[in-house]
Amino acid sequence: MTIVLNTIEEKSVLEQISNLIKDDEKEIVNASDKKIAHCMGCNQCWLKTPGVCAIRDDYESILKKIVKADNLWLVCDTRFGFLDYKGKRMMDRIMPMLNMTIGFRDGWMRHELRYHALNIGLLYQGAADQAMLEDWCKRTAANIGGHSLGAIPLTETTETIPTTLNSKHSTLNTQPTHLVILNGSPRVQKFSNTNKIIHSFAKGLEEVGVTWELHNLSNRKEWDAAREAFINNERTLIALPLYVECVPSLMLEFLETQLAEPKQPKEISFLLHGGMDEGNEFRLCERFLQGLPEQLGCSYGGTLIHGGSFRIRTAPADQVEKMVTPYVEMGRLFAQKGNFLTPEAAKFIGMEQYPWLVRKMVSLLFLKKVNGEFEQFAKNWGCTRPLNDQPYK
Ligand SMILES: Cc1cc2nc3c(=O)[nH]c(=O)nc-3n(C[C@H](O)[C@H](O)[C@H](O)COP(=O)(O)O)c2cc1C
Repeated sequence: MTIVLNTIEEKSVLEQISNLIKDDEKEIVNASDKKIAHCMGCNQCWLKTPGVCAIRDDYESILKKIVKADNLWLVCDTRFGFLDYKGKRMMDRIMPMLNMTIGFRDGWMRHELRYHALNIGLLYQGAADQAMLEDWCKRTAANIGGHSLGAIPLTETTETIPTTLNSKHSTLNTQPTHLVILNGSPRVQKFSNTNKIIHSFAKGLEEVGVTWELHNLSNRKEWDAAREAFINNERTLIALPLYVECVPSLMLEFLETQLAEPKQPKEISFLLHGGMDEGNEFRLCERFLQGLPEQLGCSYGGTLIHGGSFRIRTAPADQVEKMVTPYVEMGRLFAQKGNFLTPEAAKFIGMEQYPWLVRKMVSLLFLKKVNGEFEQFAKNWGCTRPLNDQPYK
């Protein structure tokens, strides 16, 4: 069974879909006329009501279909060479297909599957970085145990944007005095791991006398101030969690709808972190971020990357402190250099992939403890179902 999740409004796209996807047993779901919100990263689908999203909108009926399917095709427009926010939103909401518990699968650290493997494909309309979209499909499918069905342009005349290394690197010669920080996480500030990381990083900025201001994209009421701060300042740092192999859909929406090209030289740097430990997990998103400033008329100040942040929310306070303290030094360094284009920042990512022996040790010594920590957190949160519950089976 194949589900085609179409986010493009024009009716003509339906004929193209039928020409490109031949499976007789396919069901096309038009998501563009449905009410579907962005994932806000609340974790309820993993730790409070396992498998059931806290947002009770039209996505629930789609999820029930996905649970019965072997193949999922996403149909969407592109922006910045990647999926547009409406398309990415569909994939961010797919989290209930996985459990929070973690293990190694095919040599990589991954969340365990709640149901079965799902193959993922993409039909896209608009200019795009074809290679990046293909990689994104492969990585996203692998996370849900499946394989990629490919990334295929809806029209043959699609323009290519090679986003990789496209942005001019650091064009500002001045020392930073003030930094605008945007928290790109959709999770409310109080519970956001990115928020804790930012505050550690900012301690380092303050030590060197750099002032900073913070705007949270999780709160749409802060979007006007965030846009104004971006326009009126030289340097902006966007700190974000990795979401389904790239940028959260809410952050994409902000970029697509709010950020016009600036009038004077500006630089954007990124602080990217995410649940998984291995550096390789972040490289595709890094590629996207490298190309993004150019498309916003800015230069690129590098991306600081670090994994293993999913536990910040669930771990005891002393361990959280240990996890975020290394960012103080990175803040100090940024304040001195004005960007992340330094060997120290490049090293911060850690190991690209755990070797076999380390995987064994991590499984034995660490993952059991971490998965137990999730169970405990869930119990304390009032969860009455097992974490691997299958509510839609
Ligand atoms: C919808 C969603 C998708 C995610 N996708 C990834 C991913 O692809 N890789 C990863 O390492 N972590 C992923 N994570 C984990 C987050 O990056 C991580 O928990 C981060 O610490 C959240 O930061 P925040 O609390 O500021 O949102 C995902 C989390 C959510 C909610």
